[in-house]
Amino acid sequence: MIRLRGIWHSYGSGYVLRDVSLDIGEDEVTAVVGINGAGKTTLAKVMAGLIRPSRGRVERSGLVGYVPQNPEYFFFEDTVFDEVAFGPRNLGMRGGELERNVRWALRVAGLEGLEERNPHTLSGGEKKRLAIACVLSMRPLHVVLDEPLANVDPPSRARLMDVMRSLGSVVLVTHDMGLVLELADRVVLLHGGKVVLDEGTEEFFQEDLTPYGLEKPLTLRLAEEMGLGFVRTEGELLERLSTGRAGVEDGS
Ligand SMILES: Nc1ncnc2c1ncn2[C@@H]1O[C@H](COP(=O)(O)OP(=O)(O)OP(=O)(O)O)[C@@H](O)[C@H]1O
Ligand SMILES: [Mg+2]
Repeated sequence: MIRLRGIWHSYGSGYVLRDVSLDIGEDEVTAVVGINGAGKTTLAKVMAGLIRPSRGRVERSGLVGYVPQNPEYFFFEDTVFDEVAFGPRNLGMRGGELERNVRWALRVAGLEGLEERNPHTLSGGEKKRLAIACVLSMRPLHVVLDEPLANVDPPSRARLMDVMRSLGSVVLVTHDMGLVLELADRVVLLHGGKVVLDEGTEEFFQEDLTPYGLEKPLTLRLAEEMGLGFVRTEGELLERLSTGRAGVEDGS
């Protein structure tokens, strides 16, 4: 559980978070969405304890791992292995336990074979996966990902989401509505630093999002236009379409 109560935050001139209260439960994937400057990264850092809010209370039931929006600025070790080992070593892990956690995190992030590379020489998607591995190796209860999976290919994305879900809760900070539709159980919409919507993903996408500068993904718009109901992915849309067509051909 991450519990936020009456959070206000200012960097100096005006509030960028305004009276935010939220409970992030275990075993759920929560998306935090909103346009540029809405306050998403600030809120994510407050959740992770990287920013102390100007006002309000934060409680956490376990370790919160934070994967930053621009991870390359956070890499400082000479090798991928040492980068992933840094967090757990800091938590006091040593020897076999440390080695096992690092190897496990490298494996689920698909970075095996890259252990000796300098983090700065990795590709964009590999850097993102390294940032996630750095957090997973600490076995956190909650993972907060800031614009997390944009460069990550679908197989790696599916594997990482499975692992993060199995640890506990996942918070996805993003304005990628396709990702929200595909992965989130719940959506929190920030606008001007305030929570303006907080509901299940299906209900969220029934709202008019245009006042908040967001758009429904095309997949969902097509499904609705064709009377196929709520779908989360292109794959699901295609499946419904072909089932529909088979029904017509059968004369049923
Ligand atoms: N260190 C800082 N000092 C001053 N202002 C800041 C600082 N960090 C963020 N801000 C301002 O706070 C507001 C919220 O920023 P934040 O990074 O939380 O937005 P965001 O929703 O994550 O946006 P994006 O979608 O562009 O990542 C913005 O107006 C931003 O300019
Ligand atoms: Mg941001």
